[in-house]
Amino acid sequence: MRAVDLIRKKRDGGELTPDEIAFLIRGYVEGTVPDYQMSAWAMAVVWRGMTPAETASLTLEMARSGDQVDLGPIEGIKVDKHSTGGVGDKTTILLAPLVASAGVPVAKMSGRGLGHTGGTIDKLESIPGFRVELSREQFLEQVSRHGLAVISQSGNITPADKLLYGLRDVTATVESIPLIASSIMSKKIAAGADAIVLDVKVGGGAFMKTLDEAISLAEAMVRIGTDVGRETIAVLTSMDQPLGLAIGNALEVREAIETLKGGGPADLKELCLTLGAHMLVLGGVADDETSARAKLEERLSSGYALKKLKELIAAQGGSPSVVDNPAMLPSASRVLEVKAEESGYVSGIEAERLGIAAMLLGAGRETKADAIDPAAGVVLRRKVGDEVAAGDVLAELHVNERPQARIEEALRLAREAFRLQSRPCRPEPLVYAIVS
Ligand code: URA
Repeated sequence: MRAVDLIRKKRDGGELTPDEIAFLIRGYVEGTVPDYQMSAWAMAVVWRGMTPAETASLTLEMARSGDQVDLGPIEGIKVDKHSTGGVGDKTTILLAPLVASAGVPVAKMSGRGLGHTGGTIDKLESIPGFRVELSREQFLEQVSRHGLAVISQSGNITPADKLLYGLRDVTATVESIPLIASSIMSKKIAAGADAIVLDVKVGGGAFMKTLDEAISLAEAMVRIGTDVGRETIAVLTSMDQPLGLAIGNALEVREAIETLKGGGPADLKELCLTLGAHMLVLGGVADDETSARAKLEERLSSGYALKKLKELIAAQGGSPSVVDNPAMLPSASRVLEVKAEESGYVSGIEAERLGIAAMLLGAGRETKADAIDPAAGVVLRRKVGDEVAAGDVLAELHVNERPQARIEEALRLAREAFRLQSRPCRPEPLVYAIVS
């Protein structure tokens, strides 16, 4: 077999066999298929697409390229959740304890943030002492004992995807539904869950800008999951404005704690109840969504979910007293306000601009090597649909020592992120559709 023949076959619209896909992926990981051939093939896929059978083969091949976690020793149906990435998405921090408190074991591997989107692992690390690295044995033992663990994705999960994603990022080949679907699903499959709930974000702050694109991606991922025997469901949700109010690591942990205490922003709570209800049904602890939601509401109001978060923090070496006293979390030395220049109604909040503003303040990384400031970020004081008067505060920028030029740029972006109009308006619905 020769890579050039497989590139030509794809370029001309042919379908690669599982053996041919295995040849390319294994060769790429071993170094016998070079970057330039892999990028030519990826570009051919961008133009020609892949059949469902090819997408499934690519996913499995990437899932098998490194470590595969066996969650078999943990009792119960293990359900994973994955978000395609957004701004202010702190869902895992509350959803994992909420769902675990209702009896579904959560063995979660999460990532770090890059660019304008944050990562759960960076957020959890803002909790003093919280360890995100556990050995495989510690991970399994913790889930068996406490019903949940959230750790950093091990270095050797899906190395093929890591290489291919890096290549796609610099060869303009990220934007392909089969390549995105197989990239995401290969990691979920390698992480070992029995069932998967996908939160596919749609809108300005998301990968998928339109509902049609998001539905195609969701269908591709659900099909892969089903084909490989992992029950999968996708919830399509709005990322036309940031989720909740806080963007930035410690700020988001604080908001997650508030929400588990019964306060917090309505959209964040609603998203967690929606995703959580699907997790409970897939996890076999509720018969339908309605009873699952009722169970989750009860876990919230009784304080069980909050107690689970404390248990998670303590089990991973953190200080559980942050839950009672969030002032223990890092906080910034300065808070700068962004004010409305005119009155009206907030008709849009560009999540991507605010994500970049938060990154410039130190909440995120421009390159993988950058250090982050856990205290930095943005807090929204108005959301879409809110009425504002000139001079009202729209957002707060939380910042420590930082080059002035970056702060100025963040202020400009935060100002530009808000669109006002004179007529009253409503936000887009949070949940657009379910694909199963
Ligand atoms: N997220 C991933 O993990 N992979 C992609 O290809 C795109 C988004």
